[in-house]
Amino acid sequence: MAKTIKTIGVLTSGGDAPGMNAAIRAVVRSGLAQGLTVKGIQRGYAGLLNGEIRDMKSHDVSEIIQRGGTILYTARSQEFIQEQGQVKAAEICREHGIDAVVVIGGDGSFRGAIALARQGVNTVGIPGTIDLDISCTDYTIGFDTAVNTAMEAIDKIRDTSSSHERCSIVEVMGRSAGYIAFHCGIATGAENILLPEIYDGDEQALINQVIATRKAGKKHHIIINAEGVGHSSSMAKRIEAATGVETRATILGYLQRGGSPTCRDRVMATMMGIKAVDILVAGGSNRVVASKNDAIVDFDFEEALAMKKDIPSEWMRMTKLLAR
Ligand code: F6P
Repeated sequence: MAKTIKTIGVLTSGGDAPGMNAAIRAVVRSGLAQGLTVKGIQRGYAGLLNGEIRDMKSHDVSEIIQRGGTILYTARSQEFIQEQGQVKAAEICREHGIDAVVVIGGDGSFRGAIALARQGVNTVGIPGTIDLDISCTDYTIGFDTAVNTAMEAIDKIRDTSSSHERCSIVEVMGRSAGYIAFHCGIATGAENILLPEIYDGDEQALINQVIATRKAGKKHHIIINAEGVGHSSSMAKRIEAATGVETRATILGYLQRGGSPTCRDRVMATMMGIKAVDILVAGGSNRVVASKNDAIVDFDFEEALAMKKDIPSEWMRMTKLLAR
Protein backbone atom coordinates (compact mmCIF):
# COMPACT_ATOMS: atom_id res chain seq x y z
CA MET A 1 0.00 0.00 0.00
CA ALA A 2 1.28 3.48 -0.85
CA LYS A 3 2.77 5.38 2.10
CA THR A 4 0.72 8.44 3.17
CA ILE A 5 2.86 11.53 2.83
CA LYS A 6 2.65 14.21 5.52
CA THR A 7 5.94 16.08 5.19
CA ILE A 8 7.97 16.75 2.07
CA GLY A 9 11.42 18.25 1.62
CA VAL A 10 12.62 20.15 -1.42
CA LEU A 11 16.21 20.65 -2.55
CA THR A 12 18.14 21.99 -5.53
CA SER A 13 21.29 20.21 -6.64
CA GLY A 14 24.03 20.46 -9.29
CA GLY A 15 24.42 23.56 -11.48
CA ASP A 16 21.78 26.20 -10.74
CA ALA A 17 19.33 27.23 -13.46
CA PRO A 18 16.98 30.22 -13.82
CA GLY A 19 13.49 29.05 -12.86
CA MET A 20 14.58 26.85 -9.98
CA ASN A 21 13.06 29.40 -7.58
CA ALA A 22 9.75 29.25 -9.44
CA ALA A 23 9.81 25.46 -9.04
CA ILE A 24 10.57 25.74 -5.29
CA ARG A 25 7.68 28.19 -4.93
CA ALA A 26 5.29 25.83 -6.73
CA VAL A 27 6.34 22.86 -4.60
CA VAL A 28 5.99 24.82 -1.36
CA ARG A 29 2.67 26.46 -2.17
CA SER A 30 0.98 23.41 -3.71
CA GLY A 31 2.30 21.22 -0.85
CA LEU A 32 0.88 23.60 1.77
CA ALA A 33 -2.41 23.88 -0.15
CA GLN A 34 -2.76 20.09 0.04
CA GLY A 35 -2.21 20.02 3.81
CA LEU A 36 1.44 18.96 3.77
CA THR A 37 4.29 20.30 5.87
CA VAL A 38 7.06 21.49 3.56
CA LYS A 39 10.74 21.75 4.49
CA GLY A 40 13.48 23.40 2.50
CA ILE A 41 16.76 21.49 2.41
CA GLN A 42 19.67 23.88 1.79
CA ARG A 43 22.80 23.16 -0.31
CA GLY A 44 21.50 19.97 -1.96
CA TYR A 45 22.55 16.56 -0.66
CA ALA A 46 25.54 18.13 1.15
CA GLY A 47 23.17 20.30 3.18
CA LEU A 48 20.87 17.34 3.82
CA LEU A 49 23.81 15.46 5.36
CA ASN A 50 24.50 18.50 7.56
CA GLY A 51 20.84 18.76 8.62
CA GLU A 52 20.43 22.18 6.96
CA ILE A 53 16.65 21.90 6.94
CA ARG A 54 14.03 24.56 7.65
CA ASP A 55 10.26 24.86 7.58
CA MET A 56 8.91 26.62 4.51
CA LYS A 57 5.83 28.78 4.81
CA SER A 58 4.01 30.54 2.03
CA HIS A 59 5.76 33.87 2.64
CA ASP A 60 9.19 32.18 2.45
CA VAL A 61 8.64 31.85 -1.29
CA SER A 62 7.18 35.31 -1.87
CA GLU A 63 8.89 37.42 -4.50
CA ILE A 64 11.18 34.67 -5.76
CA ILE A 65 9.39 33.67 -8.99
CA GLN A 66 11.30 36.38 -10.88
CA ARG A 67 14.70 35.70 -9.31
CA GLY A 68 17.52 33.69 -10.89
CA GLY A 69 19.65 31.25 -8.90
CA THR A 70 18.15 29.21 -6.08
CA ILE A 71 17.14 30.48 -2.64
CA LEU A 72 17.97 27.00 -1.29
CA TYR A 73 21.55 27.20 -2.64
CA THR A 74 23.11 24.27 -4.43
CA ALA A 75 26.17 22.10 -3.94
CA ARG A 76 27.81 18.87 -5.04
CA SER A 77 28.45 16.24 -2.32
CA GLN A 78 31.20 13.61 -2.35
CA GLU A 79 29.89 12.06 0.88
CA PHE A 80 26.43 11.43 -0.58
CA ILE A 81 27.91 9.46 -3.49
CA GLN A 82 28.93 6.72 -0.99
CA GLU A 83 26.24 4.30 0.26
CA GLN A 84 27.07 5.26 3.85
CA GLY A 85 26.20 8.85 3.03
CA GLN A 86 22.90 7.77 1.47
CA VAL A 87 21.95 5.73 4.57
CA LYS A 88 22.81 8.74 6.77
CA ALA A 89 20.78 11.09 4.54
CA ALA A 90 17.70 8.84 4.83
CA GLU A 91 18.12 8.74 8.63
CA ILE A 92 18.28 12.54 8.74
CA CYS A 93 15.08 12.70 6.66
CA ARG A 94 13.36 10.39 9.18
CA GLU A 95 14.66 12.48 12.14
CA HIS A 96 13.06 15.54 10.55
CA GLY A 97 9.85 13.64 9.75
CA ILE A 98 10.47 14.02 5.99
CA ASP A 99 8.58 11.27 4.10
CA ALA A 100 9.46 12.43 0.61
CA VAL A 101 11.93 14.69 -1.17
CA VAL A 102 11.51 16.71 -4.38
CA VAL A 103 14.89 16.98 -6.12
CA ILE A 104 15.33 19.81 -8.64
CA GLY A 105 18.43 19.26 -10.79
CA GLY A 106 20.02 17.27 -13.59
CA ASP A 107 20.99 13.64 -14.25
CA GLY A 108 23.56 13.49 -11.42
CA SER A 109 21.01 14.83 -8.94
CA PHE A 110 18.51 12.23 -10.13
CA ARG A 111 20.96 9.39 -9.47
CA GLY A 112 21.08 10.73 -5.90
CA ALA A 113 17.27 10.70 -5.74
CA ILE A 114 17.19 7.06 -6.85
CA ALA A 115 19.70 6.22 -4.09
CA LEU A 116 17.55 8.02 -1.51
CA ALA A 117 14.42 6.17 -2.69
CA ARG A 118 16.31 2.87 -2.19
CA GLN A 119 16.81 3.93 1.44
CA GLY A 120 13.03 4.29 1.91
CA VAL A 121 12.50 8.00 1.27
CA ASN A 122 9.99 8.71 -1.52
CA THR A 123 11.51 10.89 -4.22
CA VAL A 124 10.41 12.83 -7.27
CA GLY A 125 12.73 14.70 -9.65
CA ILE A 126 12.16 17.93 -11.55
CA PRO A 127 14.51 18.52 -14.52
CA GLY A 128 16.43 21.72 -13.82
CA THR A 129 19.48 22.44 -15.96
CA ILE A 130 20.32 25.00 -18.63
CA ASP A 131 21.84 22.18 -20.75
CA LEU A 132 18.55 20.51 -21.89
CA ASP A 133 20.49 17.24 -21.74
CA ILE A 134 17.98 15.06 -19.86
CA SER A 135 16.74 12.40 -22.27
CA CYS A 136 13.24 11.76 -20.92
CA THR A 137 12.05 15.34 -21.30
CA ASP A 138 11.64 17.83 -24.14
CA TYR A 139 12.31 20.68 -21.69
CA THR A 140 14.52 21.41 -18.70
CA ILE A 141 14.06 24.44 -16.45
CA GLY A 142 16.56 27.19 -17.24
CA PHE A 143 17.18 26.41 -20.90
CA ASP A 144 15.06 29.22 -22.34
CA THR A 145 16.60 31.89 -20.13
CA ALA A 146 20.11 30.64 -20.82
CA VAL A 147 19.74 30.65 -24.61
CA ASN A 148 18.18 34.10 -24.57
CA THR A 149 21.00 35.44 -22.37
CA ALA A 150 23.60 33.89 -24.66
CA MET A 151 21.81 35.16 -27.77
CA GLU A 152 21.90 38.74 -26.51
CA ALA A 153 25.59 38.43 -25.63
CA ILE A 154 26.41 37.01 -29.07
CA ASP A 155 24.50 39.86 -30.79
CA LYS A 156 26.77 42.28 -28.91
CA ILE A 157 29.90 40.37 -29.86
CA ARG A 158 28.78 40.51 -33.48
CA ASP A 159 28.62 44.35 -33.33
CA THR A 160 32.24 44.70 -32.28
CA SER A 161 33.32 41.81 -34.48
CA SER A 162 31.87 43.54 -37.56
CA SER A 163 33.41 46.92 -36.65
CA HIS A 164 36.86 45.33 -36.44
CA GLU A 165 36.19 42.97 -39.37
CA ARG A 166 37.12 40.03 -37.21
CA CYS A 167 36.16 36.41 -36.89
CA SER A 168 34.70 35.56 -33.47
CA ILE A 169 34.47 32.19 -31.81
CA VAL A 170 31.91 32.20 -29.00
CA GLU A 171 31.92 29.22 -26.66
CA VAL A 172 28.63 28.43 -24.92
CA MET A 173 27.83 26.01 -22.09
CA GLY A 174 26.03 22.69 -22.38
CA ARG A 175 28.38 20.08 -20.88
CA SER A 176 28.66 17.38 -23.56
CA ALA A 177 25.42 18.38 -25.32
CA GLY A 178 24.95 20.91 -28.12
CA TYR A 179 21.40 22.14 -27.45
CA ILE A 180 22.45 25.59 -26.24
CA ALA A 181 24.96 25.98 -29.07
CA PHE A 182 22.46 24.97 -31.74
CA HIS A 183 19.75 27.35 -30.55
CA CYS A 184 22.12 30.30 -30.06
CA GLY A 185 23.78 29.65 -33.39
CA ILE A 186 20.52 29.59 -35.34
CA ALA A 187 19.09 32.58 -33.45
CA THR A 188 22.14 34.76 -34.08
CA GLY A 189 22.68 33.74 -37.70
CA ALA A 190 26.12 32.32 -36.96
CA GLU A 191 28.25 31.24 -39.90
CA ASN A 192 29.27 28.00 -38.15
CA ILE A 193 27.80 26.01 -35.26
CA LEU A 194 30.01 23.34 -33.73
CA LEU A 195 28.04 20.69 -31.85
CA PRO A 196 29.79 17.90 -29.93
CA GLU A 197 27.29 15.39 -31.33
CA ILE A 198 28.12 16.34 -34.94
CA TYR A 199 31.44 18.22 -35.26
CA ASP A 200 34.04 16.03 -36.94
CA GLY A 201 37.06 18.18 -36.00
CA ASP A 202 37.63 19.27 -39.60
CA GLU A 203 39.26 22.65 -38.88
CA GLN A 204 40.40 23.02 -42.48
CA ALA A 205 36.74 23.20 -43.53
CA LEU A 206 36.23 26.03 -41.03
CA ILE A 207 39.30 27.85 -42.34
CA ASN A 208 38.03 27.50 -45.92
CA GLN A 209 34.69 28.97 -44.87
CA VAL A 210 36.25 31.95 -43.12
CA ILE A 211 38.25 32.66 -46.30
CA ALA A 212 35.12 32.22 -48.45
CA THR A 213 32.90 34.54 -46.37
CA ARG A 214 35.66 37.16 -46.34
CA LYS A 215 35.96 36.92 -50.13
CA ALA A 216 32.19 37.27 -50.39
CA GLY A 217 32.49 40.61 -48.58
CA LYS A 218 31.26 39.67 -45.09
CA LYS A 219 32.62 41.87 -42.33
CA HIS A 220 32.25 39.29 -39.60
CA HIS A 221 32.31 35.52 -39.20
CA ILE A 222 30.72 34.09 -36.06
CA ILE A 223 31.50 30.55 -34.98
CA ILE A 224 29.39 29.23 -32.09
CA ASN A 225 31.35 26.53 -30.34
CA ALA A 226 29.83 24.19 -27.77
CA GLU A 227 31.61 23.58 -24.47
CA GLY A 228 31.65 19.88 -25.40
CA VAL A 229 33.88 20.70 -28.40
CA GLY A 230 35.94 23.26 -26.44
CA HIS A 231 39.46 24.55 -27.24
CA SER A 232 38.09 27.88 -28.51
CA SER A 233 41.22 29.93 -27.71
CA SER A 234 43.65 27.63 -29.51
CA MET A 235 41.18 27.25 -32.38
CA ALA A 236 41.10 31.07 -32.73
CA LYS A 237 44.91 31.23 -32.97
CA ARG A 238 45.02 28.53 -35.64
CA ILE A 239 42.22 30.12 -37.71
CA GLU A 240 43.91 33.54 -37.54
CA ALA A 241 47.27 32.05 -38.59
CA ALA A 242 45.74 30.15 -41.50
CA THR A 243 43.38 32.85 -42.82
CA GLY A 244 45.05 36.13 -41.88
CA VAL A 245 41.67 37.23 -40.46
CA GLU A 246 41.97 38.54 -36.90
CA THR A 247 40.14 36.02 -34.74
CA ARG A 248 39.06 36.29 -31.09
CA ALA A 249 37.58 33.74 -28.74
CA THR A 250 35.00 34.57 -26.05
CA ILE A 251 33.93 31.99 -23.51
CA LEU A 252 30.54 33.12 -22.23
CA GLY A 253 30.72 30.99 -19.07
CA TYR A 254 28.60 31.44 -15.97
CA LEU A 255 26.63 34.48 -17.09
CA GLN A 256 24.50 31.94 -18.99
CA ARG A 257 23.32 30.43 -15.69
CA GLY A 258 22.17 33.69 -14.09
CA GLY A 259 19.45 36.26 -14.56
CA SER A 260 15.72 36.56 -14.18
CA PRO A 261 13.92 33.56 -15.70
CA THR A 262 11.90 34.03 -18.87
CA CYS A 263 8.14 33.55 -18.93
CA ARG A 264 8.61 30.05 -20.36
CA ASP A 265 10.94 29.01 -17.55
CA ARG A 266 8.63 30.39 -14.85
CA VAL A 267 5.56 28.66 -16.29
CA MET A 268 7.27 25.31 -16.95
CA ALA A 269 8.84 25.36 -13.48
CA THR A 270 5.47 26.07 -11.89
CA MET A 271 3.73 23.27 -13.80
CA MET A 272 6.49 20.81 -13.00
CA GLY A 273 6.55 21.79 -9.31
CA ILE A 274 2.81 21.20 -8.96
CA LYS A 275 3.07 17.87 -10.80
CA ALA A 276 5.85 16.69 -8.46
CA VAL A 277 3.68 17.30 -5.39
CA ASP A 278 0.66 15.64 -7.03
CA ILE A 279 2.76 12.51 -7.67
CA LEU A 280 3.85 12.34 -4.03
CA VAL A 281 0.33 12.98 -2.69
CA ALA A 282 -0.93 10.12 -4.91
CA GLY A 283 1.65 7.83 -3.26
CA GLY A 284 4.16 7.85 -6.12
CA SER A 285 7.91 7.61 -5.64
CA ASN A 286 11.05 7.20 -7.72
CA ARG A 287 9.49 9.25 -10.52
CA VAL A 288 10.73 12.11 -12.65
CA VAL A 289 8.54 14.87 -14.04
CA ALA A 290 8.95 15.54 -17.76
CA SER A 291 7.52 17.60 -20.58
CA LYS A 292 6.51 15.51 -23.58
CA ASN A 293 4.69 16.90 -26.62
CA ASP A 294 3.53 19.88 -24.55
CA ALA A 295 2.09 17.77 -21.73
CA ILE A 296 3.52 17.42 -18.23
CA VAL A 297 4.01 13.70 -17.59
CA ASP A 298 6.18 11.49 -15.37
CA PHE A 299 8.42 8.47 -15.76
CA ASP A 300 10.06 5.90 -13.54
CA PHE A 301 13.47 7.33 -12.59
CA GLU A 302 15.54 4.38 -13.73
CA GLU A 303 13.69 4.01 -17.04
CA ALA A 304 14.10 7.76 -17.60
CA LEU A 305 17.85 7.67 -17.01
CA ALA A 306 18.23 4.77 -19.45
CA MET A 307 16.53 6.76 -22.25
CA LYS A 308 18.58 8.27 -25.08
CA LYS A 309 17.97 11.59 -26.78
CA ASP A 310 19.63 12.29 -30.13
CA ILE A 311 20.13 15.61 -31.82
CA PRO A 312 17.56 15.69 -34.69
CA SER A 313 19.28 14.72 -37.97
CA GLU A 314 17.78 17.83 -39.59
CA TRP A 315 20.00 19.99 -37.35
CA MET A 316 23.13 18.91 -39.24
CA ARG A 317 21.64 20.21 -42.49
CA MET A 318 20.40 23.41 -40.83
CA THR A 319 23.84 24.26 -39.44
CA LYS A 320 25.35 23.99 -42.95
CA LEU A 321 22.55 25.38 -45.16
CA LEU A 322 22.66 28.98 -43.95
CA ALA A 323 26.42 29.40 -43.49
CA ARG A 324 27.26 31.61 -46.47
O1 F6P B 1 25.04 21.80 -16.10
C1 F6P B 1 25.09 23.18 -16.17
C2 F6P B 1 26.51 23.61 -16.39
O2 F6P B 1 26.54 25.02 -16.41
C3 F6P B 1 27.17 23.05 -17.65
O3 F6P B 1 26.77 23.72 -18.82
C4 F6P B 1 28.62 23.18 -17.30
O4 F6P B 1 29.39 22.22 -17.99
C5 F6P B 1 28.63 22.91 -15.83
O5 F6P B 1 27.33 23.17 -15.35
C6 F6P B 1 29.63 23.72 -15.03
O6 F6P B 1 29.55 23.32 -13.71
P1 F6P B 1 30.32 23.97 -12.47
O7 F6P B 1 29.34 24.90 -11.82
O8 F6P B 1 30.64 22.82 -11.59
O9 F6P B 1 31.52 24.65 -13.02
